[in-house]
Amino acid sequence: MTNKFYSVKPILNKNLKQVYIETYGCQMNVSDSEVVLAVLQSNNYSLCKDINSASLIFINTCSIRENAEQRIWARLEYFRSLKKKKRELKVGILGCMAERLKEKLIDHGVVDIVAGPDSYRHLPKLIEGITKGEKQINTILSEEETYADISPIRMDKNGVSAYISIMRGCNNYCSYCVVPYVRGRERSRNPQSIIKEAKQLLENGYKEVTLLGQNVNSYSWNNSNQHITFAMLLEMVAQIAPSLRVRFSTSHPKDIDESVIKAIVKYPNICKHIHLPVQSGSNTVLKRMNRKYTIEEYLERVKLIKELIPECTLSTDIITGFSGESEQDHQETLSIMKEVGYYTAFMFQYSERPNTTAAKKYPDSVSEQDKNRRLNEIIELQHKLSKISNNEDLGKTFEVLIEGTSKRSKEELSGRTSQNKVCIFPAGEHKVGDYVNVKVTSCSLATLKGVAVN
Ligand code: SAH
Ligand code: SF4
Ligand code: F3S
Repeated sequence: MTNKFYSVKPILNKNLKQVYIETYGCQMNVSDSEVVLAVLQSNNYSLCKDINSASLIFINTCSIRENAEQRIWARLEYFRSLKKKKRELKVGILGCMAERLKEKLIDHGVVDIVAGPDSYRHLPKLIEGITKGEKQINTILSEEETYADISPIRMDKNGVSAYISIMRGCNNYCSYCVVPYVRGRERSRNPQSIIKEAKQLLENGYKEVTLLGQNVNSYSWNNSNQHITFAMLLEMVAQIAPSLRVRFSTSHPKDIDESVIKAIVKYPNICKHIHLPVQSGSNTVLKRMNRKYTIEEYLERVKLIKELIPECTLSTDIITGFSGESEQDHQETLSIMKEVGYYTAFMFQYSERPNTTAAKKYPDSVSEQDKNRRLNEIIELQHKLSKISNNEDLGKTFEVLIEGTSKRSKEELSGRTSQNKVCIFPAGEHKVGDYVNVKVTSCSLATLKGVAVN
């Protein structure tokens, strides 16, 4: 999960109006903000990097946990103070929170536009509406919209790796999760438009694409004579060029199958890292979560991955303190973490979301104190596991795709291994976008350090 503020150099054209876009939440939102920018740029807006010079602010929001929404409310208060100084400033709220709260956000006063995740094509119309002095709202969810024909404008300045959205929505209805309600039905994007986007990125110097969806393994597209599965799509993207790395996220443990694992084996440019959210180590909890797999099934998939791709890393998401989670359930989560040996994990305290199945059926019964302690135990264990995983890489050589200079020193470069581990090494003659073999000489919790070898 990332919270990023994106901006690019403003185009100095006085006729263009300035928009400032802030993005919260998951990678899907990062990708959506790029679609939003594309829509706005073709309507006389350019992105500005100074919030004070914007005439329009868009905030792309997340509803996944209560604290994600609280952060947005705090930002809206800040925007209110900006509006007091600049009366013509307009504020639009996009994304999942816009979809969830609809007109309640207009009632708040500071917001002029509320636009849900499927309404970004209509932004120019909504903007036109507010210039006439009327607040605008569009939260209609679509069963077809994939923005397939819109070329996203990249805001990540590294120019090396980019996201490609391959599907939208989610049909899984995990009982705790708000996503199916705010993102709508699952729908896949035309594979040809995906390939075209990946080829364009390659032509523009990009070296890595990440195929995005809430549940990429259920990607499905019917051509007149062929049914395209996720594994087939993955192979099609991998075939574009051996120098283009391919990643994907997120895999649902119930849907990842051997065909995907075999594609990873077959193409060296498909990265050897799988994000496989387990959520809990207890079968009774998984059942209440409506995850549709048992721990035994999960471990079987893990075993297959490890057998076929021994160098593959695994990461996960864990929710601690879900309704009814006992101390024994918690212990089972700790034990699955050890058994799989994740190299990293996103770990969250359960946050009840209004109107989800869990909110209706399963009371939020674990005390704040217990949730907190359990989360700390999980984090502590994950730190140990990350350390173990990184220590295993000492002395080994990995191909690293350079993404930028290291935060600590301009003399060092930073990139990632196929296994998705961040690796830092002295720059030498190498530059951003290069592939370089790095021998690992030391490590910390979150990074490998090494030297370039050839
Ligand atoms: N589609 C992805 C994840 C989307 S949300 C998947 O199925 O894995 C990212 C993560 O947020 C989830 O994996 C889950 O761990 C966490 N999450 C979702 N709803 C939550 C809630 N109500 N409280 C706490 N964490 C939650
Ligand atoms: Fe939420 Fe489950 Fe869908 Fe992931 S698969 S987005 S956790 S409902
Ligand atoms: Fe993503 Fe948050 Fe929406 S995780 S799909 S931005 S609720």
